[in-house]
Amino acid sequence: MVASEAVPYAKTGGLADVVGALAAALRGRGMEVAVVLPRYRCVAREGLACVQDSLAVWLAAGSLHDVSIWRAVHGEVPYYFIDCPPLYDRDGLYGDPADFPDNPERFAVFCQATLALVRDHWRPDVLHCHDWQTALVPIYIRTRLAADPSFMGLKILLTIHNLGYQGIFPKDALARVGLGQSLFRPDALEFYGRVNLLKGGIQYADALTTVSPTYAKEIQEPELGFGLDDLLRARGDALHGLLNGADYSHWNPETGPYQAAHYSAEDLSGKRLCKADLLKEFGFPTEDLELPLLGMVSRLDSQKGFDLIEEVAEELAAEDCRIVILGSGDPKYQAMLRDWAKANPGRIAVRIAYDNRVAHQIEAGADMFLMPSRYEPCGLNQIYSLRYGTVPVVRATGGLADTVDETTGFKFRDYTGEALLEAVRQALAAYQDRAGWTERMRRGMAQDFSWNASAARYAALYESLTG
Ligand code: ADP
Ligand code: GLC
Repeated sequence: MVASEAVPYAKTGGLADVVGALAAALRGRGMEVAVVLPRYRCVAREGLACVQDSLAVWLAAGSLHDVSIWRAVHGEVPYYFIDCPPLYDRDGLYGDPADFPDNPERFAVFCQATLALVRDHWRPDVLHCHDWQTALVPIYIRTRLAADPSFMGLKILLTIHNLGYQGIFPKDALARVGLGQSLFRPDALEFYGRVNLLKGGIQYADALTTVSPTYAKEIQEPELGFGLDDLLRARGDALHGLLNGADYSHWNPETGPYQAAHYSAEDLSGKRLCKADLLKEFGFPTEDLELPLLGMVSRLDSQKGFDLIEEVAEELAAEDCRIVILGSGDPKYQAMLRDWAKANPGRIAVRIAYDNRVAHQIEAGADMFLMPSRYEPCGLNQIYSLRYGTVPVVRATGGLADTVDETTGFKFRDYTGEALLEAVRQALAAYQDRAGWTERMRRGMAQDFSWNASAARYAALYESLTG
């Protein structure tokens, strides 16, 4: 598995949860699996074993990178780390708020070093790549290394976690990552006058997956195809929608971390303590315990529907409930949320941060969880919410449509503030029927989105690839 993030080493979003948990679940099924990651600053070198202390990676004339390869084992899964301090020893994974200008080189070196690892140290049957950062793996293998016997027979699967991120760069990036100008064609990497790495990966991978059945259909249509719907339709036979699983060892009300109390579907009493704890965390008085509490944990990105919240901010704030939001990302949404909280003290509280502890507190302590996404390839928080008895209120798109139904949560279709408000109002009204609400919570908690089923689907796909 080749990826730019994996729990527990490096995470900005759901990709990390998926790579870490899928690798462990495949290992649990008896498969031999290893994960390759860049050694970012957040991965300490102490505790890693050196696999190769010097490897010369040439991207282009004069562009030489001295790389080393390190190894650790986590939960029986070997992790390999590609180390190159000038490229990866920085704050953040991709550059925040602006992308690092040398991201093409950073991930090209990562992909080339991964190929060296595969050739010399750890040979798999399938290379499972994730997102644009690893799309150069199939591109290199099927173009400039096409005649290299070391990679013959190797099958490549590329998983698209989010088509909104394609790795699009100026035309000169092609030479910077060591590829010839002949690939600057519409049926290769050219994309409206620029270079698109994910597009190349989609062209050259043996098989493609994305992270829910509905999203697999949506990306083949213009509305959510981000300019690649034609190509994805052309590769439709190779594209599969495999729903993500949830790692219930990290996200579980009975055993999970950072909870004021544990609870289960049979004994929900602990959830009230978690709610009290969450209210306190966000500075609300204990009297608010009787009011419905709505939570959100999200990257602050246009994907996630914050413009809808902005549209009906006043109406939402006027409802008889409390709202807590944890998020980090786009400064525009940070400012919007801060202003919203400032205008509604005692009703709305916002924490601008990336904080795993508070994320768990919200999952455990809130009554409802809001995800009004414009699009959502899979979404994990609604799956975690179901398990925590925290009823999801979601827009019916992508994985949200596939995992939440009318008996476990509330869904709206139109991407409008009005539709969002209507769904929230329905949820708030339903909350008043305490017995009905508890039933709804229990139905959600009984859903099983554990990795077993998803990992079995990946295993079947690997097998179909290797014959
Ligand atoms: P995406 O990958 O698009 O961000 P997902 O729902 O698949 O969306 O996964 C998001 C993951 O990142 C979840 O594990 C969620 O708890 C976590 N997360 C998102 N924002 C924050 C934050 N501000 N603090 C802590 N965890 C966060
Ligand atoms: C992406 C998507 C999210 C998905 C995650 C893991 O970040 O935005 O919907 O759950 O990848 O596949």
